[in-house]
Amino acid sequence: MKKFKIITAIVLVITSVVACEKILPGTPPDDELLDGPVEGLSFEQNRQFLAGDVAFNDEIFTSQNGLGSIFVATSCGSCHAGDGKGHPFTTLTRFGQVDSTENQFLHLGGPQLQNRALPGYTTEQIPAGATFSKFTPPANTGLGFLELVSDADILAMADPNDANADGISGIPNYEYLPTFITPFQNAIPRNGKYIHRFGKKAAAYNLLHQTVNAYNQDIGITSTFQPKDVYTGLNIDPEVSDVTVHNVVFYLQTLKAPIQRNQNDPEVLEGKNLFIQAGCESCHRQTLKTGF
Ligand code: HEC
Ligand code: HEC
Repeated sequence: MKKFKIITAIVLVITSVVACEKILPGTPPDDELLDGPVEGLSFEQNRQFLAGDVAFNDEIFTSQNGLGSIFVATSCGSCHAGDGKGHPFTTLTRFGQVDSTENQFLHLGGPQLQNRALPGYTTEQIPAGATFSKFTPPANTGLGFLELVSDADILAMADPNDANADGISGIPNYEYLPTFITPFQNAIPRNGKYIHRFGKKAAAYNLLHQTVNAYNQDIGITSTFQPKDVYTGLNIDPEVSDVTVHNVVFYLQTLKAPIQRNQNDPEVLEGKNLFIQAGCESCHRQTLKTGF
């Protein structure tokens, strides 16, 4: 009797495996996958990649684990869905003034608008007189490579006064570093300021900087790095652990760069030539090398 049961169980398992193979699509080819890790990660690194993936894509914040009190969204993945680009419903709004002096609206909740709030709290409003822009979330694949492009290479591409008269002036963004950031060894600072590179207007130095700010400004989550609560402006206990922050940073650092499809298709090649001819390449470089 026992034997019979085992045999039935085996037969059931086999039929379900066969059935699944028929129903489920096969593993997609590499160039169809956006959210995989770079090759060559160790077992331990893969574990950290997965932990970062879960924290980034699946961890939804609520009032129980620190959300808000004011916020824009409840998880990284709700704006960067599938690690890809966002859409008009997942934009961020930042406000300030037109001239380039220090933002006059920092004491009124600037620069970022937290347009949602937990029950009982008031959402932020764009203050009278402020100008504002909406930003669409970019894809966040391949950023680990960009993090490692050297300052020397960025400076070699810079052209602040448009010396080559192509109508395009690339200007590196120098800012002071927050205290929790250790600069790269090959950094080339100027008067104590460092070239920043992530986010719009290159406002973040590295992926740790961007991640810590995103937790704080987008979800209202404090960390040991950025303990200031967006609502009260007071320092409070961390709502996300250092381990989770580092896992998310590692995840972003090891998300592979997207692979171009149909590279040898004549139409694709023609488009590539047009891209170069039209001068798109002066900003969208075909090749960048990591600097270590
Ligand atoms: C409300 C939507 C929203 C949420 C939530 C959000 N982001 Fe973003 N993210 C954006 C937008 C918009 C930008 C581009 C503007 C900017 O920040 O400068 C961005 C930029 C980034 C960048 C820089 C990409 C680049 O190419 O420079 C990274 C990395 C990033 N986010 C990671 C995160 C992480 C990690 C979280 C969660 C802790 C998160 N984001 C949560 C909207 C969001
Ligand atoms: C002066 C520099 C510059 C030039 C020249 C330039 N771009 Fe861009 N491009 C950018 C920047 C910066 C962004 C990101 C803007 C943003 O996300 O707000 C961008 C974004 C894009 C995007 C969206 C990418 C994404 O993931 O959302 C596409 C597509 C694009 N550019 C195509 C082109 C094409 C085609 C040309 C040539 C006809 C071109 N660009 C020329 C700077 C440039």
